[in-house]
Formats: sequence, C-alpha cells, structure tokens
Amino acid sequence: MNILITNIKELVQVEYSSKLMVCGSEMGTIKTVRNAFLLISKGKIADFGKMEDLFLPEETEGRKLKTIDATGRLVLPCFCDPHTHLVYAGSRELEYVDKIKGLSYEEIARRGGGILNSAKRLHEATETELVAGAMQRLEEVIQLGTGAVEIKSGYGLNTEDELKMLRVIRKLKEYSPLTIKATFLGAHAVPAEYRGNPKEYVDLIINEMIPLVASEELADYIDVFCDRGFFTVEDTERILMAGIKYGLRPKIHANELDYSGGIQAGVKYNALSVDHLEYTGDEEIKVLLGSETMPTILPGAAFFLNMPLAPARKMIDSGLPIAVASDFNPGSSPSGNMQLILSMASILYRMTPEEAINAATINAAYAMGLSEELGSIAVGKVANVFITNPIPSIEYMPYAYGSNKIETVILNGKIAW
Ligand code: NIG
Ligand code: FE
Repeated sequence: MNILITNIKELVQVEYSSKLMVCGSEMGTIKTVRNAFLLISKGKIADFGKMEDLFLPEETEGRKLKTIDATGRLVLPCFCDPHTHLVYAGSRELEYVDKIKGLSYEEIARRGGGILNSAKRLHEATETELVAGAMQRLEEVIQLGTGAVEIKSGYGLNTEDELKMLRVIRKLKEYSPLTIKATFLGAHAVPAEYRGNPKEYVDLIINEMIPLVASEELADYIDVFCDRGFFTVEDTERILMAGIKYGLRPKIHANELDYSGGIQAGVKYNALSVDHLEYTGDEEIKVLLGSETMPTILPGAAFFLNMPLAPARKMIDSGLPIAVASDFNPGSSPSGNMQLILSMASILYRMTPEEAINAATINAAYAMGLSEELGSIAVGKVANVFITNPIPSIEYMPYAYGSNKIETVILNGKIAW
C-alpha cells in the first residue's frame, strides 16, 4: 500500500542531500517544510514537498493509495534509540527505594544488587518469557515514536545466558516492525564467581563467548562497561580487539562513574559510539573531535541515578555531535520514552529543541549504524515516521513533557500504531 500524508502543518527534519550526522553549531538547525505532503511507497519515502507542488506520478495513481489528512499536525522521522537493555526479567524497584534512601549505584552493585540481580532473574527466565516481556516494551516505545532500537545483552554474564539473550534479540528482529541492532555486552559486570579474578572472566569472554556469538552471527556490535569498579581500560582494549577480529564494531559504556579512560579507548578502537559520558573533560573532548565516534548521552540514567550531567552544551559548543538514547533498563533507566528524553535533553542539558531532535534522529541513527537508512525525511530512506496530535510547533515537543504527543506511527511504510 502507498500512503500519502497531506496538509502537514510542518514536515520536520527533511534532507535534500544525504548526511550521516550533524555536528556542533549545525545541530541547532532543522530543515522543515510547512504545509507539506509526504508520499510513501513500497516502505520507502518516495517524495515530499509543499502541498502546491503535489503531483502524483502515474504509477502511484492506479495503485491503492491511503490518504491521511494531517491538518494542524507535524510529521517527524521516528526516533532512533541507540542504547537500550530492554531484554530483561523483572523490575528493580526495591533498589530504587535504597537509592532514594542514599545508597549509590556502586554500593548497590557491591552488595550483589544491580546488574547481578538482573542476571540472576534472567537466568531463571525462559527465552519465551523474555521475548514476551521485550515485545511488550517494544510495543510501548513504538507508541511513543521510536522506530529503531539497539538492544544489548549483558544480563547473562555466562556463555549460555549471554547467548540466550542474543537469541531473544534475534527473535525480536524477526517479530517486531522496529529496526533492531544487537550488541554483545558480556563485559557488563564481573559475575560473583569471578570476583577477585576478573581477568579470568575477561578470558572467558574473549576465548569462548565472542567466537560463539560470531559463529551464530548473533551480534552487530560489541560493548564493554569501561568504568571504575567494572572493567579497566586494559580489559576493555583486550575485549574490543577480540571483537573487532570477528567484525564486531565497538559501542561502549564510558565515563559514567569517573574519568575512566573509556572515551579514549573507544576512540582508539574506532567505536561507533561512546555512551554515558558524565565525566568528560577537555582532554576527552579533544580526543573525540575529529574521530568517527558518536558521543551519546543518556539523560534518563543521569536523571534516575541523580548523577552529574554530561557536559553536552560544552561538547556541542566545541564542535562535537551528540546523540541521545533512553538506556531503557531495569536498574538505571526504566523508561524507553524518547519524548521524555527530548525534554530532559533540553531542560537539563540546555540543548535547544532543534539540537535535541537532531540528537534523537539523525545522530542517533548514526550511533546505531543506520543513518543512511533512517533518521531523517529523505527520498529513498525507510518510511519510519510519526504524525503528532494537533500541536503548535516543534518546540512544543520537548516543552509539553510527560504526555504522548503522537497520534500515528508508520514503520516500513505501514501503519504500526
Ligand atoms: O547503561 N552503566 C551500566 N549499565 C546500565 C545499567 C544496567 C543496570 O543497572 O541494570 C546503564 O546504565
Ligand atoms: Fe547502558
């Protein structure tokens, strides 16, 4: 079926010549067309422009064409969410209460809570249960405007359970209309049985897990939590080198808890993204400038853990690109709501609405290796777009925080919600 959206009050994030990301001051601009149409054919964006220029090519006229009148409404490319852990079993609201009472993320982790708690629950869950839980979360984020998600393993922490998680993600790729990328994160935490001997666990990741993950082609990317109390720069480099040998490009957790050297390690191994970045100073900014690594901030995690904020304003003003992601996970960010992330990016990080939208669309698409296919309204790109409720302006998107401003979601050219 072809879809024609007419009378669009403002078609947002249009692109005439392709770009993979936007950096620095460019992030403050979003191209739009007012009083626009958008034509979708065979799952792709076929044409767009001003209503007065609407001309339907002959082959479209004969075919089934569904017309949607978007008077008073905006149309945007769906959000890309380049960092989530949305395959998990059980929630962790009791730790959340401990956090409110003053325990830190690291203290909870040291007591066997945190990631290890999720690993225990994941071990007890079947693949079918995990798929069902994740499908429900995916359905929820579609309704909130997300069109692509990266999903990590990392609650397995042994060979069998890491593979189980990645097989669940492979099923999600098959069942869900979302575009999904899988990341192997065996190095999310050191399991209890390796406490005191983390190198042995790193050896297991390198010698056993990575080759198996690669032989079943279960992952697109490889991740390491390179931070104080988790994995060192040396561990990280060994794991990344092993992953790269099998074609897994790094996307890593870095500098959430300290100036861990994770950003430098990520850039050195040409990571697609380095994520979190609460501890980013001049040296880290210098290393990122001129690299092909997307700095990705996770406002939901910083908000939920009440952590210092990554210096996004300074990074953009230094010429860097920024992407945002939800970090959807049961411990540090139990929400995949990218509309809320837009609001946090602007309210907490002082990013303008345009910067926040660029960060959640084209730059986020880059951070999952998809900016040639997704992240903007461009002819030939995959038709993942949403239509808002009647709203006054782009600025209203982050301004009206907490409510769903989306009425219709189209994924791969089909109405998904
Ligand atoms: O991105 N920082 C490390 N990992 C996750 C948290 C996962 C968890 O607590 O379950 C994050 O915030
Ligand atoms: Fe994370």
